[in-house]
Amino acid sequence: MKVTVVGAGAVGASCAEYIAMKNFASEVVLLDIKEGYAEGKAMDLMQTASLMGFDTKITGSTNDYGKTANSDVAVITSGIPRKPGMTREELIGINAGIVKTVATNLLEHSPNATIIVVSNPMDTMTYLVHKATGLPKNKIIGMGGALDSARFKYRLAEALGAPISDVDGMVIGGHSDVGMVPLIGHATRNSVKVSEFLSEEKMEWVVEETKVGGATLTKLLGTSAWYAPGAAVSSMVQAIACDQRKMFPCSTMLDGEYGLSDICIGVPVILGRDGIEQIVEIELSDAEKAKMQESAEGVKKTNGLLQV
Ligand code: 2OP
Repeated sequence: MKVTVVGAGAVGASCAEYIAMKNFASEVVLLDIKEGYAEGKAMDLMQTASLMGFDTKITGSTNDYGKTANSDVAVITSGIPRKPGMTREELIGINAGIVKTVATNLLEHSPNATIIVVSNPMDTMTYLVHKATGLPKNKIIGMGGALDSARFKYRLAEALGAPISDVDGMVIGGHSDVGMVPLIGHATRNSVKVSEFLSEEKMEWVVEETKVGGATLTKLLGTSAWYAPGAAVSSMVQAIACDQRKMFPCSTMLDGEYGLSDICIGVPVILGRDGIEQIVEIELSDAEKAKMQESAEGVKKTNGLLQV
């Protein structure tokens, strides 16, 4: 199993590190345009192999896509991250051109790869990759919901005073500070609905803190987060590489599901060997449906800024 990660910045390098440490891939190629940067990070990561106990071979490349040839999965993290006070959508002007070039270069050498898009604004970048490559829809996956759900679980555990392993929850909709839809009505503490434990106000607090989870970290860090985004991607890559048929909320092209078409937005999907094996349509309340529609309007508005 060969995985390429384009962008050796904080998110890309964390993603490569977690994939290597999970030891399911034979090779991870880390590629960046900055001279020597990916090679340096790959070498540094390889020098943890004996300490962390993995056999994955991590190699670095300065913009040589030949080294990425025949990748099974390729992750696009390249582009600029947001600064405090910025929205993800404001990155489109710079990141759209980068993502389009990267996707084209990747597929020239790995025509059968499954592409995972991380670069922001992620739902629109995922849509762009569809338009730019024409890849089958099961082979293009946007990572946002897996990260937002991890943040949702973090806040649920905090509110409940429970261990993270006791809570479950999913976030669907656009990967945006205003558009994501944490499904608080579906969230559970060991199979019991969290509404049995939390007041309306507390549940609202969990939802709102989840929605701004990325912005909260950007304010603290001065740049966007990288550990949880990298970990979220590595879990998705593992589900594909090991054909786990695991369910994640991912940005995927919809064609009527959830009443939406011609849009990439976060919905539950089953990930396996062929990428998106199935889009799962779950029962949503009227309020959740309305939030999903509103979220989709926001994503479509950002899509409208693309010059594909
Ligand atoms: C985040 O929410 C980078 O969009 C990513 O942290």
